[in-house]
Amino acid sequence: MDTKVLAEDNPDWLAEATDIVRSGSVVALATETVYGLAGDATNPSAVARIYAAKGRPSKNPLIVHVSGVDMATALGHVNERALSLIGQHWPGPLTIVVPMKESSDLVPAVTAGRGSVALRQPRGALAKLIEHSKTALAAPSANASGHVSPTTAGHVLMDLQGEIPLIIDGGKTKFGVESTIVDLRHDTPAILRPGAISAEELGMEEHKPITNDAAPDAPGMLASHYAPKAAVRLNVLADDLKSGETHLGFGDACRPGALNLSPGGDMVEAATNLFGMLRSLDERGATAIAVAPIPSAGLGATINDRLARAAAPRS
Ligand code: TXA
Ligand code: MG
Repeated sequence: MDTKVLAEDNPDWLAEATDIVRSGSVVALATETVYGLAGDATNPSAVARIYAAKGRPSKNPLIVHVSGVDMATALGHVNERALSLIGQHWPGPLTIVVPMKESSDLVPAVTAGRGSVALRQPRGALAKLIEHSKTALAAPSANASGHVSPTTAGHVLMDLQGEIPLIIDGGKTKFGVESTIVDLRHDTPAILRPGAISAEELGMEEHKPITNDAAPDAPGMLASHYAPKAAVRLNVLADDLKSGETHLGFGDACRPGALNLSPGGDMVEAATNLFGMLRSLDERGATAIAVAPIPSAGLGATINDRLARAAAPRS
């Protein structure tokens, strides 16, 4: 299949993307976090196409993107605590996991049959598409399964060219890392995946460290994930590079001439650059990436989580 790319400032994009969604196919487009691969969450063939295009294992459920609280409450049991969190953070990079409503018309494959649903109201082109197509859209990050998430339309094209009919190019995404996923099924809310909203901002404890548990709470969160092609080694100062390694710097810890996640040591900037720089190093043919130490405050926890997964042994 040919993959068409339309700019988000092309006046036809929304009509074309809506036609594709209504026909049960899929479209990649920007959110404020990363690019998503969206399809109608109530249409079995759309959901099957999402899994097939990414090569995603069927046991890894998809986030359902909604236009607000009303659509969310039709799909999941949104309690007081959930309402207060979404009141503060929607639209935005917060995903909540809540018990699914039996009456919801979601395709079972979206939730991988778990009885819980992950819900988020995004910003950006994806938000416009939900409003216009009037349906909840299942949308994982628009990368090949296991790879780092795409923060530009070019990244999507690299991973999914020939697999999907349409990409809407909205430029580089704002946050550059995925949403924070909060599990609200129990008395104490828990962060399942650190993301673009820090634990401090949510007033919650850090997420549990990564595991390769057989039945993790967020099944996509296996240790080896978000990986570039190159091997990755962490906490490496510029003077400690081994031969053949390419440095990825942060702040003052940066080999001269190397890419730097944020020369000024700014966490928000580093998060925005993380996935794009890992991809650029792959493109430049780096076989081993050595990453400078990143402090773990604020978005540093999210950056270190993704780096730990990128560095984990691969299966
Ligand atoms: O920022 C984001 O969250 C992006 C944009 C496109 O919205 N989406 C994204 O989706 O990162 P994805 O599919 O790459 O990651 C979704 C994560 C996976 O780890 C998945 O296992 C978890 O959400 N998840 C989805 N539904 C779940 C559920 N019912 N219970 C627990 N975890 C769930
Ligand atoms: Mg993903």
